[in-house]
Amino acid sequence: MLNFYSGPSKLAPAVSKELQENLSDDTRHPFLEISHRSKDVVGLFTEAEQLFRSLFNVPDAFDILFTHGGATLQFSAIPMNLCFHNQGNVGVINSGRWSALALIEIEKWCQGEAIASSQPNHFNELPPTPRLEQDYDYIHICTNNTIHGTQFHTIPRFNCPLVADMSSEIGSRPIDWSLYNIVFAGFQKNLGSAGGGIVIVRREAIIKQKNVPSLMNYNNLIAKQSMWNTPPVFAVYSCLLTLRWMQASGGITHFEQERMIKSNMLYTTLEDCHHFSLPIKSDHRSHHNVVFEANEETIEEQFLQAALQADILGLQGHRSRGGLRASIYNAHTQDEVEQLCQFIRDFDQKV
Ligand SMILES: Cc1ncc(COP(=O)(O)O)c(C=O)c1O
Repeated sequence: MLNFYSGPSKLAPAVSKELQENLSDDTRHPFLEISHRSKDVVGLFTEAEQLFRSLFNVPDAFDILFTHGGATLQFSAIPMNLCFHNQGNVGVINSGRWSALALIEIEKWCQGEAIASSQPNHFNELPPTPRLEQDYDYIHICTNNTIHGTQFHTIPRFNCPLVADMSSEIGSRPIDWSLYNIVFAGFQKNLGSAGGGIVIVRREAIIKQKNVPSLMNYNNLIAKQSMWNTPPVFAVYSCLLTLRWMQASGGITHFEQERMIKSNMLYTTLEDCHHFSLPIKSDHRSHHNVVFEANEETIEEQFLQAALQADILGLQGHRSRGGLRASIYNAHTQDEVEQLCQFIRDFDQKV
């Protein structure tokens, strides 16, 4: 079976094997069944934090938090921690649904506005970098747009700090920490299983205010090493195993090279097809979410049917966008992507 779902998505085989073993009766550390205050679980969180810090070269000025609620909860938690209620001012680069949803949550807490948007182009390209007319507490950017298949290959620079949603690209290129007050992501694409997320926050940027819900207050999470209440232990365990696998595979540099090769294979294949087209502007295309379209609706249906029969899953586009999409993350091998390319070539010739 080949799995190209956008998330939750394929785990590295070494990770899923170890997760399965952990669920067996004779495991010595059954992380689903022991107290989160036990030495084993505290050790698991500490190792995950240290490993993330060393793999991503996170400077001391940042704290690393493991959180509930995926990436979406952070759309609300971030303005609450970085902006004064009703006074803060946030700019959002609207490159698609995930940044638009973040803006809705920001506006519930303080001022928010889209300072650039590619909506008029149906999000088939990235918005141009705007000139700022005023100062913002931060600018929210989604670096890789899972639904629309666009990606900022160069991160825009401003005079104010960025907050970046890296949910669908984290772990596939180095991060320039000088640009950010926060980088965050849900686990379920490149960092493990669903149910948790990671927030890397510049300590000095956090504002102290009383009306932030306790579980969303970053100072609480920092003080309690991400264990303000019972944390998503098994999801963090999956993250730790993924980080160990990333380190053993050669770290971020390795995955950065891999993603170029894999996405290039797929885009080149699609460019050569008669029955498919690529709607996204070429230099804005994502290395992870390859969005494509069949030139006729009936061909799209036939393609999805044929893929199912060939045991290839997850090629349907997001329900809000339609079309087709293949998501390729760190866990996908070049061989798996080549098998997909061969399937596409064969289908294109036969139909
Ligand atoms: C870029 C991006 N941001 C945010 C989210 C929302 O993540 P979650 O479902 O973990 O809240 C997703 C989900 O796919 C995403 O791709």
